[in-house]
Amino acid sequence: MTQHLDPRALRSAFGAFATGVTVVTSTDAQGKPLGFTANSFTSVSLDPPLLLVCLARSSRNFEAMTTASGFAVNILAETQQDISNTFARPSEDRFATVAWSSGPFGSPVIAGVAAWFDCRLEQVIEAGDHVILLGRVEAFESGDSNGLGYVRGGYFVPTLAARAVSAAAEGSLHLSAVVERDGEILLVGDGTKSLPGCDVNGEEPLAALRSALEGLTGLPVTIGFLYSVYEDRKDGRQHIVYRAFLGEGDPRGGSFVALDRLADPTFDSAATADIVNRFASERSLGNFGVYFGTETTGRVHSIARKA
Ligand SMILES: Cc1cc2nc3c(=O)[nH]c(=O)nc-3n(C[C@H](O)[C@H](O)[C@H](O)COP(=O)(O)O)c2cc1C
Repeated sequence: MTQHLDPRALRSAFGAFATGVTVVTSTDAQGKPLGFTANSFTSVSLDPPLLLVCLARSSRNFEAMTTASGFAVNILAETQQDISNTFARPSEDRFATVAWSSGPFGSPVIAGVAAWFDCRLEQVIEAGDHVILLGRVEAFESGDSNGLGYVRGGYFVPTLAARAVSAAAEGSLHLSAVVERDGEILLVGDGTKSLPGCDVNGEEPLAALRSALEGLTGLPVTIGFLYSVYEDRKDGRQHIVYRAFLGEGDPRGGSFVALDRLADPTFDSAATADIVNRFASERSLGNFGVYFGTETTGRVHSIARKA
């Protein structure tokens, strides 16, 4: 190994390259479906039609993947982050929770993906601690949805991020935050509850949100990834919701409500109720894992919807 390069720093630098997310599938000698999450997909050639994906030598499916007659690359859609997590975690049967069918060339094709390519395994190329699986596309299909994005260990939804940027440029924004600590979420308001936040007119949005949250709580605040973007038809404004993390101590303003007691408060809007309940249910599923990154890189979540 090259001594002077720190592998952790190298992995993190590689992670600056934003990619899509795929699930690479095949079948073992008994015909059982297998698959793993991969962002190392690259299109290679149109004539002949070739693509590649890099497979770690440490993969439990190494033998089966490198000796199969073919594999399929499923490009996950924006809403399929859960599938990415399922196929990146150890599991007895990753296919139990997804709808799939056999592609024309025989490898599993997952329902609802942005695109899939069912390939013949053309060549296995040695490449250090990985191998390159070179595939010849035998059949493919492209759907309507956009692909899920991945950068620096966190998922992102390109259309969601783009909407946030254009809303910020137009002004008249309401920013708020899902602030969770130890199974509780920070809410404001005596009767009807809202997410803590602020209006923004021209200021730098994230700085404005951080100072509003610090002013409310008297505690240090770190703003995390984007959680939701929606337009409220009633007030005609764009709402952008981030995740945020509070430092230790009791907040001066606002109050923490347990995520399993959310039936009690009344929320200021259906959108707030939806965001809070969705956050609670995702958290109980333990879907906040972060791969290839640090615990602080957070993630982007896809709940772009009109209120
Ligand atoms: C976004 C993302 C991208 C990944 N990309 C790759 C990849 O390109 N190649 C790879 O071998 N593993 C990749 N992994 C890791 C595998 O999905 C993970 O190690 C999985 O558990 C391997 O399963 P297996 O051992 O059953 O093959 C990625 C994981 C994530 C979350």
